[in-house]
Amino acid sequence: LKPELQINDHPEHQHGHEQSVRIIHKGKPYTIKPGNPVTLSMRPEINAVIFDLDGVITDTSEYHYLAWKQLADEMGYTFSREINEELRGIGRLESLDIILDASGVTLSVEERFNQGELKNSYYKELLKSITPENLLPGIRDFIDELKEHRIRIALASASRNAPEVIKRLGIENDFDVVMDAGAVEKGKPDPEIFVSAAEKLNVEPEFCVGVEDAAAGIMSIKSAGIFSVGIGPAAAEADWAI
Ligand code: BG6
Ligand code: MG
Repeated sequence: LKPELQINDHPEHQHGHEQSVRIIHKGKPYTIKPGNPVTLSMRPEINAVIFDLDGVITDTSEYHYLAWKQLADEMGYTFSREINEELRGIGRLESLDIILDASGVTLSVEERFNQGELKNSYYKELLKSITPENLLPGIRDFIDELKEHRIRIALASASRNAPEVIKRLGIENDFDVVMDAGAVEKGKPDPEIFVSAAEKLNVEPEFCVGVEDAAAGIMSIKSAGIFSVGIGPAAAEADWAI
C-alpha cells in the first residue's frame, strides 16, 4: 500500500471534456473534478479489535487440555497434545467428536452430551483458580492502550464459559460487545461470530482487527473480511502471525 492515493485531473479533462469521477473511499463518496485534485489516505484504519479468549487473553487453553485429558483417561480414549491442537477454537461437542474419531468410538446422542457435560465439570473446577493474575502478559496494557485511542473492543469466544472467565479475570467491563458460543448458530471456522461482533460494534469489517490462537479462528476472521492477527503456531495462516 502506498501511504496516500493522489487522483489528479487527467490531461484529457483539461481539453474541454468536463467529466468528473465519483468514487467511494473508506465508505465515503467523493467527486473528483478536473482541476480539483483530491488526496486520500490509504493508511489502514483500526476502529475495533475483536479478541478470542482462550489462548489469547488468558491461558485457559491449557485448562481445556487438562479437562479433556481427564475425560479421555477415564474413558480410555486416545488423546495427546497433538490431538488437543485440533481442538483450539472448536466447540465442546465438536471437540469430543474429534477425540471419539481418533479413538474409533461412537456414542449415543445422550452419552455424547453427558460426556461433554462431564468434561465441562472438570473444566469449571479448574476455572475456580482464575484471578486477574491469569491475564496473559501485556493484555491489560494493550486493552488500556486501545481505550486511550478510542478503539472499540469485543470478545468473540467459542466458549460458553466465556462470561465467567472474563468476570474472574476482572475484565468483564472492558468489552463493548461480548459474543460467546450461545450467541451464534455456527461456530468457528464459520465467520458468523466475527461478523456479528463487528455488526454489534457498528464497525465495518475492514476497520476491525481479529486476534486468535486457533486455525479455525483465523479462518473465521478472514472469511468475515477482517484483518487477522495470529498468536502461536496453530494460527500461522493469519495476515500477521506472531
Ligand atoms: C474455545 C476453546 O474457546 O471454546 C475450545 O478454544 C473449547 O478448546 C471451546 O472447546 C468451547 O468451550 P466450552 O467452555 O463452551 O466447553
Ligand atoms: Mg482460542
